[in-house]
Amino acid sequence: MPILKRDARHEVTCTLNGETVTGHAEPRLLLSDFLRHEIGATGTHVGCEHGICGACTVLVDGVAVRSCLMLAVQARGRNIETVEGLSGPDETLSPLQAAFHRNFALQCGFCTPGFLTSLTEVLERNPDPSEAEIREALSGNLCRCTGYQEIVDAALEAAAEMRGAS
Ligand code: FES
Ligand code: FES
Repeated sequence: MPILKRDARHEVTCTLNGETVTGHAEPRLLLSDFLRHEIGATGTHVGCEHGICGACTVLVDGVAVRSCLMLAVQARGRNIETVEGLSGPDETLSPLQAAFHRNFALQCGFCTPGFLTSLTEVLERNPDPSEAEIREALSGNLCRCTGYQEIVDAALEAAAEMRGAS
């Protein structure tokens, strides 16, 4: 990566939920702030800004990443997926989103974008996860409302539906 001037704003072009987007960022701007404030994609939430809560999780080239721990300039040329990209073009919920809805897997919803993106990666990597594997995969996502059981139930239900098992 070339050396970037500290106070200059640099062009960042990436793919966001299938569309090419371009914005400008100082070298120190976090990807989470870039998405929310420069691009206007406010579905990604910011809680701790220290990599602890998982609320800001997005997929970067298919890998779940805490966007508060990544610089916006590192997103150049990358494929970013956020919660806004999980539903279909006609805004139908993904199987995972629908399972969250059915299972009451959210209350205030602040943590939900991070859970959905983390679980999307999990289910793409492992279509038939055990409950223990789901809990392990979600160990970096914090929820202050639900007690987690409904989230795990939703993940198992969505996995089964996506496998055609239910
Ligand atoms: S806001 Fe990024 S992990 Fe909490
Ligand atoms: S639903 Fe409120 S923090 Fe998780």
